[in-house]
Amino acid sequence: MAADARNLRRGLPRRPGGDAWPPPGEAPGGLVAASARTTATASTPTVPAPDASMPIAAAPAVAAAPASGRRLRSGLPRVAGGGAWPEVVATPGAADVGVRDAAAAPQHAVVEEPPPAPPVSAPAAPMPGGAQPAVAAASPATGGALRRGLPRVAGGDPWPAPSAVAPVAAPPLAARSAAEPLPAAVPPVAAEPVPAAVVPDSAAPSAAASPAASVERKPAEPERPVSPAAPIVPASTPSSPTTTRYGPLTRTQWVGASVVGVLAIIGAATIVVQLTRWFLGLDFMQDFLASYPGETPLPEGAPVGLPAWLGWQHFFNVFLIVLIIRSGLQVRTEKRPPAYWTPRWAKGGRGRISLSLWFHQSLDILWLVNGVIFVVLLFATGQWMRVVPTSWEVVPNAVSAGLQYLSLDWPLENGWVNYNSLQVLAYFATIFIAAPLAALTGVRMSGLWPKNATALNRAYPVEWARAVHFPVMLYFVAFIVVHVTLVFLTGALRNLNHMYAAQDADGWLGFWIFVASLVVIAAAWIAARPTLLAPVAGMFGKVGR
Ligand code: HEM
Ligand code: HEM
Repeated sequence: MAADARNLRRGLPRRPGGDAWPPPGEAPGGLVAASARTTATASTPTVPAPDASMPIAAAPAVAAAPASGRRLRSGLPRVAGGGAWPEVVATPGAADVGVRDAAAAPQHAVVEEPPPAPPVSAPAAPMPGGAQPAVAAASPATGGALRRGLPRVAGGDPWPAPSAVAPVAAPPLAARSAAEPLPAAVPPVAAEPVPAAVVPDSAAPSAAASPAASVERKPAEPERPVSPAAPIVPASTPSSPTTTRYGPLTRTQWVGASVVGVLAIIGAATIVVQLTRWFLGLDFMQDFLASYPGETPLPEGAPVGLPAWLGWQHFFNVFLIVLIIRSGLQVRTEKRPPAYWTPRWAKGGRGRISLSLWFHQSLDILWLVNGVIFVVLLFATGQWMRVVPTSWEVVPNAVSAGLQYLSLDWPLENGWVNYNSLQVLAYFATIFIAAPLAALTGVRMSGLWPKNATALNRAYPVEWARAVHFPVMLYFVAFIVVHVTLVFLTGALRNLNHMYAAQDADGWLGFWIFVASLVVIAAAWIAARPTLLAPVAGMFGKVGR
């Protein structure tokens, strides 16, 4: 025991400015006494008990902890090479520690109990086939109603029975004397028989009276109550989906952030709309709107309506550009192309490109052909007047149309005859600026571009082309999003009839042709995979890996 005393860790001084406590090689009397009493379980480390001024001794305090339903923390070993102390499972030694002091504090006997059961929800009735937690029996002493949980048998009622959860008026534990039966012996309210191992008819009271008796008796391995007493898994368990992080936030946080974001956007949009309305209501803006209603008059002799050829051109353009954007992004992102294509006419394997780039460039050729036919027809039929600004008035009119869009008081919808000035500028930019830019920069990067034209290549470095080509694609994507959104928000059926059925009507014909066109595009999207592309590419060159 002296050895034990020597092995004790020393802690903070007991008095300000004093030495570490306890003095080296010394153990406080209480501890030595306690140690002496535990010789029966010599292998069990002793509990260091602070001096008498400390609340009871450390050992009972430890033993009592489970009564509060909290799991004991294990700390450093008490002896060199020993295990963490105290052991997690209630050991005979631990029982000893608890029962030893039971005479002074009977409730300490609950050390035999599985730790996690909070008293308020501890079962009042014994669990079949398992040790009945004494703490459960003690719980009603609190007078609180017990929660009922899952049935004990398949198809059974929630457990414990309602009668068992009725609060039991019991004197507070602290008021009991040592001679009183342990709380474990409080007869369960339920009439169910108490398993012998749980509430030993004689052992419990005698444990209080003679600790030694209980030292010998190994308590049945307590079964962890699979009951309402089991602590509810906290929401912050790592496996919980709410705590799994997606990027910097958890799912709940993303939902919250999205809600806040959407509300913020709606709020900002409302403010913008209201401010624009207020602004347009000012006198000078009323004059401005009268002078610049949002569309510029067409030149004399401009055609009325959209011909069928234009609708076809428009559809084929949409079809191609969707696949062009997709294949362009594939060229940009793919690390290891699925296959390579080498032109049939290439010498010595030169001009080898990835299958994705082959597809991109093949689509580009079709797109260029379609675009050239479109522009030729635009000028041949006078349709160009609808998409090419013919006076500078288009600028203030475009501002006017833009403000009207912002105020949600849409500009006059007159697409069959004349686009508003914002449309004219957007279509003009797309047809006559963005498309040629995409082609010029694309060709510069392609195998078609002459490699040996030194002066030309110095004047137009490939890096420039690469730097411009991608942002042009971003422009196309932005244009398409805004364009299609407005087509649908400003009289969808009528607009679709204009472009897809070449008529100025309100029926559904244009809509269904549009839907059919989407089906064709989706089919092409699905078909555009290497297994199908490779044979087609093989008709124009060699495909291999
Ligand atoms: C699903 C996609 C699309 C739909 C539903 C659609 C629909 C329309 C409609 C209804 C019009 C006539 C507007 C009116 O009558 O007021 C139109 C015009 C136009 N769209 Fe689209 N569009 C789509 C995609 C595209 C794309 C991808 C581009 C170009 C990249 C484009 C370029 C144009 C141009 C240049 C015009 C004016 C044509 C002219 O009158 O000469 N559209 N579009
Ligand atoms: C005549 C028209 C076009 C030609 C000849 C062309 C050609 C090319 C070529 C040769 C590349 C490969 C660049 C490289 O090796 O890094 C490329 C990439 C790309 N193309 Fe095109 N292209 C054309 C039109 C378009 C259009 C209209 C779009 C989209 C609207 C587009 C989107 C892209 C994208 C996103 C890339 C990847 C860019 C990158 O890697 O940064 N291209 N194009």
